[in-house]
Amino acid sequence: MQGTIGFIGAGAMAEAMISGMLGTGLVSSGQIMASDPSPGRLQLLHDRYGIVTTAANDQVVTESSTVVLAVKPQILREVVEALCGTWRQEQLVISIAAGITLTDLEAWLPPGTPVIRTVPNTPCLVGEGATVLSMGSAAVEHHRVLAETIFGAVGIALTMPEQYLDAVTGLSGSGPAYIYLVIEALADAGVRVGLPRDVGLMLAVQTVVGAAKMVKNTGGHPAQLKDMVTSPGGTTIAGLHVLERGGLRGLLMDAVMTARDRAVELRGKT
Ligand SMILES: NC(=O)c1ccc[n+]([C@@H]2O[C@H](COP(=O)([O-])OP(=O)(O)OC[C@H]3O[C@@H](n4cnc5c(N)ncnc54)[C@H](OP(=O)(O)O)[C@@H]3O)[C@@H](O)[C@H]2O)c1
Repeated sequence: MQGTIGFIGAGAMAEAMISGMLGTGLVSSGQIMASDPSPGRLQLLHDRYGIVTTAANDQVVTESSTVVLAVKPQILREVVEALCGTWRQEQLVISIAAGITLTDLEAWLPPGTPVIRTVPNTPCLVGEGATVLSMGSAAVEHHRVLAETIFGAVGIALTMPEQYLDAVTGLSGSGPAYIYLVIEALADAGVRVGLPRDVGLMLAVQTVVGAAKMVKNTGGHPAQLKDMVTSPGGTTIAGLHVLERGGLRGLLMDAVMTARDRAVELRGKT
């Protein structure tokens, strides 16, 4: 990839993206720069990845062709507006800040700045993220391709209109926590039926990974894959019966809807 990518805010998500991009060979360490107020954090990222680091956000803006805004949402406006006069119009600005809309970003940046808003999730930290991107009014096709390439280095990336982003937050943004709960419950269930806890957890994790890969790699419909392992009068249908009676499907749907509604509510307060 050509150009340089600068991160304003060098926390967990920035590191996940830096690590992913370097791991796939998308960019070299000399093409990445990051700024952060913590000297220890900057030293660590420099030592670990060989990237250029600085305490000065304006240096990142001046020296990068693409800038990723990776600070907490509460301070984003202050950080962006403090850099007024430094932004260049040909620069792509990508925000990963939860709940900050394209309208906000475009109002805080100079008119005409190409902006892309994203909703990534924590599995980006292990290269298995799910990120949805929305393009601002000045962003064009090559910006989309660039942003999808960057987030594609840490998982899957797709572009959708911004109106979907609250729904995305409710599903893939909050979704890892739902699955952690399922994994923990399955491990507890293993203990309940007499397995050592470490074995229960190991089996629960691998079962979730395996089932997800079956859906992803075979392209089979989940219902078809379920039917394949459900023999008449067998053990699996007995277990499924309990999950259906308990309303697992409805509960998961309610969880996604409620998280989506909460995203809307929180956005209203920013
Ligand atoms: N983590 C996730 O799973 C996730 C998922 C989706 C979206 N996001 C979004 O990603 C963004 C970053 O989240 P994160 O989890 O990476 O948070 P984080 O680990 O706290 O990283 C934010 C970094 O920004 C630094 N910072 C604070 N003030 C700054 C300033 N004025 N200029 C430059 N850097 C500054 C912080 O330093 P100090 O710690 O010293 O203050 C910290 O290192 C957030 O907007 C969040 O909504 C995160």
